[in-house]
Amino acid sequence: MKQNFLPSFSLFPLSTFLLSFILTVHSQSSPDALPMEALKASLGNPKSLGWSDPDPCKWRLITCRNNRVTKIQISEQNLRNKKLPPDLKNLSSLTVLEVARNFLLGPIPSLAGLSSLQHVDFSTNIFTYMPSDFFYGLTSLKSISFDCNILISPWEIPESLKDAKNLLSFSANMASISGFIPDFLGEDTFPQMRHLDLSSNNLQGQIPASFASSSIQTLWLSGLSETKLTGSLEVIQNMTSLTQVMLDNNHFTGIVNLSLDHLPKFTAIYLNGNLLQGPAPNIINDSKVDSDIGSNSFCSYTPGVSCDNRVTILLSIAESMRYPLVFAQSWIGNDPCDPYQKWKGISCNVEGNITGIKFTNLALSGTISRSFSQLKWLKQLILSNNSLTGTIPHELTNLPHLVKLDVSNNHLSGKVPNFRTNVKVNTDGNPDIGGNNSLSPPGKPTFSTPHSESPSGNGGGIGSTGKRGKNTNIRMIVGSVIGAVCGVFIVGLGVIVYTRKPKHSKG
Ligand SMILES: *[C@@H]1O[C@H](CO)[C@@H](O)[C@H](O)[C@H]1NC(C)=O
Ligand SMILES: *[C@@H]1O[C@H](CO)[C@@H](O)[C@H](O)[C@H]1NC(C)=O
Ligand SMILES: *[C@@H]1O[C@H](CO)[C@@H](O)[C@H](O)[C@H]1NC(C)=O
Ligand SMILES: *[C@@H]1O[C@H](CO)[C@@H](O)[C@H](O)[C@H]1NC(C)=O
Ligand SMILES: *[C@@H]1O[C@H](CO)[C@@H](O)[C@H](O)[C@H]1NC(C)=O
Ligand SMILES: *[C@@H]1O[C@H](CO)[C@@H](O)[C@H](O)[C@H]1NC(C)=O
Ligand SMILES: *[C@@H]1O[C@H](CO)[C@@H](O)[C@H](O)[C@H]1NC(C)=O
Repeated sequence: MKQNFLPSFSLFPLSTFLLSFILTVHSQSSPDALPMEALKASLGNPKSLGWSDPDPCKWRLITCRNNRVTKIQISEQNLRNKKLPPDLKNLSSLTVLEVARNFLLGPIPSLAGLSSLQHVDFSTNIFTYMPSDFFYGLTSLKSISFDCNILISPWEIPESLKDAKNLLSFSANMASISGFIPDFLGEDTFPQMRHLDLSSNNLQGQIPASFASSSIQTLWLSGLSETKLTGSLEVIQNMTSLTQVMLDNNHFTGIVNLSLDHLPKFTAIYLNGNLLQGPAPNIINDSKVDSDIGSNSFCSYTPGVSCDNRVTILLSIAESMRYPLVFAQSWIGNDPCDPYQKWKGISCNVEGNITGIKFTNLALSGTISRSFSQLKWLKQLILSNNSLTGTIPHELTNLPHLVKLDVSNNHLSGKVPNFRTNVKVNTDGNPDIGGNNSLSPPGKPTFSTPHSESPSGNGGGIGSTGKRGKNTNIRMIVGSVIGAVCGVFIVGLGVIVYTRKPKHSKG
């Protein structure tokens, strides 16, 4: 319409100056005029934007270069209940698209093919759909935010993201992402990635091993939904560029061994609300590091205090089974023989010596640790009905009091070591056992033996029973804080609250 209007308008008899002026405007009218008119129409042509000139390059909040639209910066313009048009992908010179805090709805338009696009901010809107081809050809993309879009129907991080090889920052806090953290977010595909925020989504599974060599500096994976991230935090230890890590309110298990020697640039670590085990990580002792490690399954919450020797041995055993959730949830405190705590699968004599292990029907995978042989008082070792692989470590023959070993119904292989004749050994239901002891010898370097530094009975730990009780509260508090953060936008515009910025938790 505007296109028709302009030429006829320029035919009016006007002063030479005005005529030439208008012709200039017309001749310079951007090739992006049509998609920009589509944007204007889709946004309901709000007066507040003042987009009346036929040339979109003259519009407020629009930047052009060589007569092409390069920046659209219309964040916080009160564009309630409006949509973005699909035609945005025609703006082939676009480098910046900012539409944050507007309550825009409908689908996020695909921007596939916009190879100049560098910065995109879709945060705090009510978009309902994320197209999976969104990232195709976005080869210049450096940062993108989908934060606080709670109404998007669940989406997984699409393969098309791989095209955005120059990505520095990917932020999708409270953006309905489901599924697993893709392996490709690591170093190989995204050598420049510095900030990854996937907090408050519906993620599951582990932190991919490919993150180990990544140069991510701020990794925010707080979990505030029913689904949780699981597995150990071993990979974090190798992410030497890390400065901030937020992993709170998930189901991470195992020992976290982080120190500033290893990760010199650290400034903040949030581990609260997980099932982490072993001693508290040393890194929290540094006054420069903002931390919260409360509500976990640590044997001690004081860094530098090691676990009871029996705990250390049991954790080494759990490590070879990849720190199963079932133990992390049950093994609370620093005394495996505490009659009130009832550690899963552990029985003891009155002196507090572990005499029985019964891990049956627990869907355990991994291998049988050589560390069992350090439980000198063990009489019964029952590991039946699991999915254990590898061999029976020959060190188990050294257990002086052992009378029963039941490893039936697993996937063990190799030779059965020679136990004393009074030991009742059951290896039934392991199709590969008894063959050559070749494939997976026990005690491979990947499975470390325990460090027995602490004298037994070193009871420096704070039992975390009480802490566990706080878990729900903390989650509710954090949840409502986040809810409020998104809610502030939903209720009224104009207040910019920085989502999940670490706050000081110590003095
Ligand atoms: C955008 O491009 C598509 C295909 O190239 C075309 O069909 C559409 O009309 C364009 N939109 C505008 C507003 O020019
Ligand atoms: C961490 O780095 C060490 C030493 O470079 C390596 O042996 C180990 O496998 C790495 N761990 C992970 C999870 O990548
Ligand atoms: C932590 O790692 C250091 C080496 O990085 C090692 O010496 C120490 O024994 C480890 N501690 C635990 C509890 O695994
Ligand atoms: C950490 O601080 C506590 C109390 O200030 C102290 O007892 C402990 O030895 C320290 N641990 C390390 C590893 O420095
Ligand atoms: C286990 O038994 C030994 C030998 O009787 C004893 O010295 C030790 O204190 C007992 N208890 C624990 C918790 O190790
Ligand atoms: C192992 O599992 C089978 C079937 O799943 C069950 O019948 C059997 O009782 C289990 N054995 C033990 C020792 O729990
Ligand atoms: C074990 O290995 C030897 C030589 O490598 C072979 O002769 C023998 O048949 C193997 N036994 C089994 C049960 O696979």
